[in-house]
Amino acid sequence: MKLTAHRGVKSLAPENTLSAVRKAAELGVEWIEVDVQCTAEGVAVVFHDRVLGRCTDGSGVLSETHWEQLARLDAGSWFSDEYIGERVPAFEQLLTHVRQLGLAVNVEIKCYRETDVEALCAEIIAVVERVGLAEDHLLISSFSREALEYCLAHIPSVRRGILYESLPDNWEEDLRLKPYSIHCNHETLTKEQAAEIKAKNLELQCFTVNSPARTLQLESWGVDRIITDCPQMLMPVQESPLTA
Ligand code: G3P
Ligand code: MG
Repeated sequence: MKLTAHRGVKSLAPENTLSAVRKAAELGVEWIEVDVQCTAEGVAVVFHDRVLGRCTDGSGVLSETHWEQLARLDAGSWFSDEYIGERVPAFEQLLTHVRQLGLAVNVEIKCYRETDVEALCAEIIAVVERVGLAEDHLLISSFSREALEYCLAHIPSVRRGILYESLPDNWEEDLRLKPYSIHCNHETLTKEQAAEIKAKNLELQCFTVNSPARTLQLESWGVDRIITDCPQMLMPVQESPLTA
């Protein structure tokens, strides 16, 4: 089973930070997933939540916060004292780091109700073009069809993954987005749905899987890759005689 480290290795370092990216490199996990949003003035930054309180010492809505304020916040002490002083990375910083470490990244375009989807996508694309990460080291994913449509129109050569909390009956209508991969919440995916997706020759990814037994079951359903908080726990699964 192929592994992607969710928000960097979020079980070992504060999620979506440069330290979480470095943990993946230390473990030998090539792929990470991160979430990207824009600040009030349109700087693309790596952050999951709509609001700042859980993962920083700040408060308020990220998209109403300016970069200058955000860059001063502590994004590590909530996780442990070892990470006091960790910052919310600009997407460009993180992507540069990914390239320097030889990693690959699934960039989730994170859209909330007030997100200016076009502006966010345009900024992400501008950063991707500036950093020049090899296209086979990059995947763009989103729950937002609008975001994926924008990426198809403006950067069609970068692969797209469609995210589903639960696969709808009419999911094949989304094939107009020309996805490379389909990403399903493993808690709602059925064996039959996995077979349908694989019959379309699409890569099938599941999030967020943290159990070795479930990983083996999903593998038997044809799932190609899991997105996990704990790659350190699941890596032995890759070498298990059960999967040989
Ligand atoms: O990429 C899958 C996963 O990251 C989607 O959920 O909320 O962790 O961004 P979330
Ligand atoms: Mg995500």
